[in-house]
Amino acid sequence: MSTINYSERIPNNVNLSDDRRLQRALESWQPKFLSWWGEMGPALPTTDVYLRTAVSVQRDGWAHFGHVALPEYRWGIFLSERQSERTIAFGRHKGEKAWQQVPGEHRADLQRLIVIQGDTEPASVEQQRHLGATAPSLYDLRNLFQVNVEEGRHLWAMVYLLHAYFGRDGRDEAESLLLRNSGSEDAPRILGAFNEPTPDWLAFYMFTYFTDRDGKYQLGTLKESAFDPLARTCDFMLKEEAHHMMVGTTGIDRVVTRTAELMREHDTDDIARFGGIPLAVIQRYLNFHYSVSLDLFGSETSTNVANYFTNGLKGRWQEERRKDDHVLTDGHVMVDAVADGRLTTVETPALVALNQDLRAEYTADCGSGVTRWNRILADHGIDTPLTLPHHGFNRAVGAFAGCHLSPAGEFLTVEQWEAGRHAWLPSDADMAFVSSLMRPVYEPGRIASWVAPPRQGINGQPFEYEYAHLA
Ligand SMILES: [Fe+2]
Ligand SMILES: [Fe+2]
Repeated sequence: MSTINYSERIPNNVNLSDDRRLQRALESWQPKFLSWWGEMGPALPTTDVYLRTAVSVQRDGWAHFGHVALPEYRWGIFLSERQSERTIAFGRHKGEKAWQQVPGEHRADLQRLIVIQGDTEPASVEQQRHLGATAPSLYDLRNLFQVNVEEGRHLWAMVYLLHAYFGRDGRDEAESLLLRNSGSEDAPRILGAFNEPTPDWLAFYMFTYFTDRDGKYQLGTLKESAFDPLARTCDFMLKEEAHHMMVGTTGIDRVVTRTAELMREHDTDDIARFGGIPLAVIQRYLNFHYSVSLDLFGSETSTNVANYFTNGLKGRWQEERRKDDHVLTDGHVMVDAVADGRLTTVETPALVALNQDLRAEYTADCGSGVTRWNRILADHGIDTPLTLPHHGFNRAVGAFAGCHLSPAGEFLTVEQWEAGRHAWLPSDADMAFVSSLMRPVYEPGRIASWVAPPRQGINGQPFEYEYAHLA
């Protein structure tokens, strides 16, 4: 059960060969996936890349490293081990056995949740399609492709669930996941942040820090689901997701390190002329990526999400560690609201406020990155810290949509907002400057001017290792 069968066209640990109908359906989706990958996946031609592939979902053996030609990557279907006696941890079915099939009354909602999650996975591959042309090192190039192949596998994970449990509708949705495209006018991806471009490597590090981290929290809620195949799928995806966040966290570490070195060496903030990214530009990128990622958490209050929780479809972050009744029918919490152009809070039933609950967990987690980047600055004797903007800044979804707040959280007039926005969000000039630094460095052991080398390579290999061979 736990060992992945690589002898099949679609590697899997779900005994796919026992279900010929499902196997055939997925085998007919596979060429469509590969043609999507060819058109929308990494644009830079490579001979091979040093990649991690899952060979078993057990603790010791799920990551196997080797040079692989990208189109031959073994995308497959891997679920965490089934716990035989797993029970539902929350909602009105709390204490009952987890479901191995989809209950008819929750079919539409579960399918919707899986489609929304599934839509983000290929979207990020599309957003990152052209970054290979400007990688700052072979190490970074390899990390980009690792993230890309795993997001491709996460699409497979969701497509498996759609095919296996949702019949004809599920198969149609699986097709549509390849037809929508990031940034498309006619058929965009479902969520806003996944239609934003990722034009340069600073944006890529910010995306993997802030937007992949949103993914971590969404997967964390689905991992609690009463629908056991979904829970096990998301549990395994979270293991892969950790690497994506490592790429973001250490990527920003390395940009901040290089910036700090240049500031100290030349005794100035104005390091653009020395080939570095000024701290103010890093802050503006951070403001942008954090605020668009907050929109992914939806409105502060949501009766849909309350129903998902009550029905057992989607739990809270670390549901089992919460010290309450896990039903939440009696609790109330204070929720952000805007009244008369001011921030207030209103008492709201806890069930309806679960989006805000998840967003707060996410914000606390994001803060840990800011703390570590400020430690790097402080170690270089720089006392201008990076900060997370107020959660009402630059929002298009929820209580703050339509309001103008500064990063410090002050409510502004439209004129004040227009006057300040170039100081707070990346301007065209910032983007053009960062873009001008983006020149590929493909010699092993070398690195671009604007970023420090990593402290560690991948899988114990040195930084100088040949992580990829270009075609
Ligand atoms: Fe993912
Ligand atoms: Fe990811």
